[in-house]
Amino acid sequence: MTTTLVTGARGKVGQSVITRLHAAGHAVRAASAAPAELSVPDGVETAELALDRPETFDAALRGVRQVFLYPEPAGIHELVKAAEAAGVEHVVLLSSSSVLGPDAENDPLASHSLRVERALAASDLTCTFLRPDAFASNAFGWAPVIGRSVPVQLAYPDAHIAPIHPEDIADIAVAALTGDSPAGASLIGRSVTLTGPESLTFREQLAVLADAIGRDIAVEHITRAEAEQQLGHHMPAPMVTSLLNLWEAADHGPATVHDTTRTLLGRPARTFAQWARENAAAFTRP
Ligand SMILES: NC(=O)c1ccc[n+]([C@@H]2O[C@H](COP(=O)([O-])OP(=O)(O)OC[C@H]3O[C@@H](n4cnc5c(N)ncnc54)[C@H](OP(=O)(O)O)[C@@H]3O)[C@@H](O)[C@H]2O)c1
Repeated sequence: MTTTLVTGARGKVGQSVITRLHAAGHAVRAASAAPAELSVPDGVETAELALDRPETFDAALRGVRQVFLYPEPAGIHELVKAAEAAGVEHVVLLSSSSVLGPDAENDPLASHSLRVERALAASDLTCTFLRPDAFASNAFGWAPVIGRSVPVQLAYPDAHIAPIHPEDIADIAVAALTGDSPAGASLIGRSVTLTGPESLTFREQLAVLADAIGRDIAVEHITRAEAEQQLGHHMPAPMVTSLLNLWEAADHGPATVHDTTRTLLGRPARTFAQWARENAAAFTRP
């Protein structure tokens, strides 16, 4: 049986990919920068692999034919070489729809994934690029504020996105890795843009969350400068600028909704309301 290496195994999508492949009887190796922190099903091997530390690559890739890859440009050229040497045939990359944006090469968020796509495209490996839009799970960032019942402060409350449920990304990744696309369309070697089923503003997402937790959530409109200061506590300044530019641009009308989940899986994409119901408990803790 061929082994699939799943990187970023502590991540939301990585964990779901591991569980699904294992349940379907595939040999899986869960790779993480911190393997001791992993909780994987019995029968799943674990390995240390930090995408920015090439000395961890060879052992993690031994005997592997496919890789589910989180994007990290720091060690990507070394990873490609190690994967080719190990006999890897297919890589499924968790990329981002941001690579399709204007000036992606010079945008700190988009170039992170784009540099990885380019290194893979220049290799001998067969590559499948999954390009999701914003994850529904980004809403976890609001959980501490909502839990304390204070207003959610946003510079662009009416920015539209089409949030995708991480489980839909995992389902599509598994279809690419197994070659079993329920809708019959092979994904191997393709680049696909993935979104949720509807365009929602941040304000509308918060209303959906309010419904899920059974109480109102107040929204407070703040200035861009105030948002810059707040976000600056969690990420570098160029990333903050890039994110705020993205939301500013999204402030002018509905986000494009792609029907890739239906086309690839033969069923509708999971809604943000479903994600909110499944994760409501995270928004009720002070
Ligand atoms: N969030 C979005 O809206 C979005 C949109 C498009 C594309 N993407 C791409 O998707 C990828 C995952 O996005 P995400 O933001 O949702 O992250 P995530 O799935 O939570 O994964 C974060 C990664 O960070 C590592 N990590 C470090 N410390 C961790 C901890 N304490 N708990 C869990 N993971 C930890 C994990 O890798 P190890 O296990 O190896 O340490 C994990 O794979 C990103 O590379 C991003 O470029 C995200």
